[in-house]
Amino acid sequence: MSWDFLWTDCRLATFAGDQPYGAIEDGAIGIEGGRITWVGPADRLPGPPSELATNVCDLKGRWVTPGLVDCHTHLVFGGDRSLEFEQRLQGVSYEEIARRGGGINSSVKATREADEHELVAAARPRLQALINEGVTTVEIKSGYGLDTDTELRMLRAARRLSEELPITLRTTFLGAHAFPPEFRDDPDAYVDLVCDHMLPRVADEGLADAVDGFCEGIAFSPDQIERVFGRARELGLPVKLHADQLSDLGGAALAARFGALSADHVEYTSEEGALAMGEAGTVAVLLPGAFYVLRETQVPPVDAFRRFGVPMALATDCNPGSAPVLSLLAMASMGCNLFRLTPEEALRGITCNGAAALGLDEQIGTLEVGKQADLAIWDIRHPVDLCYWLGARPLTGLMRGGSWVQKPPL
Ligand code: NIG
Ligand code: FE
Repeated sequence: MSWDFLWTDCRLATFAGDQPYGAIEDGAIGIEGGRITWVGPADRLPGPPSELATNVCDLKGRWVTPGLVDCHTHLVFGGDRSLEFEQRLQGVSYEEIARRGGGINSSVKATREADEHELVAAARPRLQALINEGVTTVEIKSGYGLDTDTELRMLRAARRLSEELPITLRTTFLGAHAFPPEFRDDPDAYVDLVCDHMLPRVADEGLADAVDGFCEGIAFSPDQIERVFGRARELGLPVKLHADQLSDLGGAALAARFGALSADHVEYTSEEGALAMGEAGTVAVLLPGAFYVLRETQVPPVDAFRRFGVPMALATDCNPGSAPVLSLLAMASMGCNLFRLTPEEALRGITCNGAAALGLDEQIGTLEVGKQADLAIWDIRHPVDLCYWLGARPLTGLMRGGSWVQKPPL
């Protein structure tokens, strides 16, 4: 028997099994061919470490978790919106800025002006910042192009980033993010463009793993989202939705009706919406960064999600408007402090439930045999420290698919 790696003297937060955090003290983990081949208490290893693996690493009691999963970002975009940040600080609301033609549409203008190379160059440090914190899987949405060429360019830029950086990437087509200025007087014609031109091109070129929309008073109506989702399903693409962020338009229930992977934001989701999500297996992706930046007061119905068995994920929502956020661990902290998640729920939210929100729960998100060897090594006393401290930078090693991204000091 010869595994590529065997890690010994480590403590594992597997997020599998019945123990809190799926914890295994005095654990060991074997890695072969980019996958986890053995995981459990060290005293059950099937032989002496030196006979089991080519590389035996003594982790000196450090904690190991699955690589982190950021399941909702808009990190490819042109320009920035720091001036709007200043406006909001002077009391102008996010919705008012959008109505005045700013907001998402100011990023659209800058994104249309950027070529693919410029989009990649601007996004690279943002993605790198997430990786530096322990993230091994990221989702990136389009949605700042709102014309066929720019939407496709954003998705290509995202795909290119995953060739350059050690990250597993999922792309999401978000053509239904906002109405571009040229369609302001005929919004339904823009929905036609999304359904009849953009979606078939995106599907043809294999550029997106899922389709998203923004269902809100300042964006798309439930009827318009239904049209987009209907087309996406015809093309065989799974859906997800920015739902019930600023008001309750029944977005979560709509997403559930289409078997959505996730409904995201969900601050205003009703009991019925949460029930429908539970029945459909739709993940609630909570985005406390946007909640914090927009100084929202309505918290998502976390108790209803618990009661109806809705898995909860947490993500950065990294975007230039509502969530200039580059720390997923900060979201875990905010998930606890702002939304009253338990630390274990918060950590499941950035590992296994984040994976489920991307339809990747069979491949990543827990420490179990057969899963991709995406592993983060931490200098912490206990997993709760990952949520308890803000800005601590506790990552000391990172492996993705069985290759080192950051080698720990051994
Ligand atoms: O997830 N809610 C809509 N979309 C983004 C915001 C995008 C923006 O303001 O640029 C979000 O918060
Ligand atoms: Fe978003």
